[in-house]
Amino acid sequence: MKKVVLAYSGGLDTSCVVAYLKDKGFNVICFSANLGSEFSAPDLKKRALSAGASKIYVEDLRQEFADSYVLPALRANAVYQDKYVLSTALGRPLIAKYLVDVARQEKAEYVAHGCSGKGNDQVRIDMTVKLLNSQLKIIAPLREWKLTSRESEIKYAKSKKIPIKATKDKIYSIDKNIWGLSIEAGILEDLGNEPKDNAYIFTQSPKDAPDNSQNVEIEFAKGIPVKINGKKKTFLAVIEELNKLGGKHAIGRTDLIEDRIVGIKSREVYEAPAAWILIKAHKELESLVLDKDTLSVKRSIEPKYAELIYQGLWFSPLKKSLDAFIESTQSKVTGKITLKLYKGNIIVARRYSKNSLYKKELATYGKADKFRREDAQGFINIFSMPYKK
Ligand code: ARG
Repeated sequence: MKKVVLAYSGGLDTSCVVAYLKDKGFNVICFSANLGSEFSAPDLKKRALSAGASKIYVEDLRQEFADSYVLPALRANAVYQDKYVLSTALGRPLIAKYLVDVARQEKAEYVAHGCSGKGNDQVRIDMTVKLLNSQLKIIAPLREWKLTSRESEIKYAKSKKIPIKATKDKIYSIDKNIWGLSIEAGILEDLGNEPKDNAYIFTQSPKDAPDNSQNVEIEFAKGIPVKINGKKKTFLAVIEELNKLGGKHAIGRTDLIEDRIVGIKSREVYEAPAAWILIKAHKELESLVLDKDTLSVKRSIEPKYAELIYQGLWFSPLKKSLDAFIESTQSKVTGKITLKLYKGNIIVARRYSKNSLYKKELATYGKADKFRREDAQGFINIFSMPYKK
């Protein structure tokens, strides 16, 4: 029997894929990475086996995801088209890497996924698989099957006795991990519709958020968040705590018309409280400690870095080179930033770094001023000379 290793999320699409592949005569082995999804391991096992899988691997990859995928993205302040912190996109190379590993372990010739034929995730997973093992054959049933609408998929699922989660499966297509939640389809396809409050998982609405603001101090060591309010934490724990805190204060909802890799403009709604808080704090600290030229070059490559993640080019040479540059800039990024959270807003309150390039004796308008004003006139004479000429 032909063996296939399927990237399994527990959602509607991949559950239908299990049944589909089994019908096509495959022995279906599922691989499920927990990056912070809404399904628990026992839940995933039950769903995969009842859909027809012969075996399922469930790996808790939250730590690896945080340290090796999310952290480089944070240090790059990676945001796609101003509004998307790339939560879904960042998970794909990790999932694909494990898919390749499990296929090797199981001596399977095929890998499969439940990504749609018009989305980005098919590109990201296929690209990574091809880059890591060009021998593997990739099956993407959603690119070929006849279930082209969510309604027909739900009908198919019912006929195969696949339990449909009574929640958001029906209304939206969602993807959740520790770095954020992506919500699309359903009523959101009509640009006249606002997302309903029940679309969100991490955040409460600004109107329900506390009337009192709350400060949070984030400490970085070389561009890595290491403490919250003075307490040492792993990066994963930092993210989890800030998701809770930010969620309470309605932080991190965005609604984006985005340009997909395949050329379509689509609408996706996101929520990512921890990501937005951390990116804000990290950028503030960089502004304080990086010299002007390094800062401006770093800011100029950040959108490119985000685009590489978006396009599934995580394991590309350019990404590797940009990482080397970013790594070198982060040696100075040590210090503390205090942010005020208030009804969906993140406001910078305090900054401190032993590497601070802000010097009060140069900036002050008070008595302690050390800036040599008398040099300014000569400087301006020379600075203006080429323009006068
Ligand atoms: N548009 C996002 C991306 O391409 C998220 C894709 C998955 N979204 C979803 N709601 N299932 O990365």
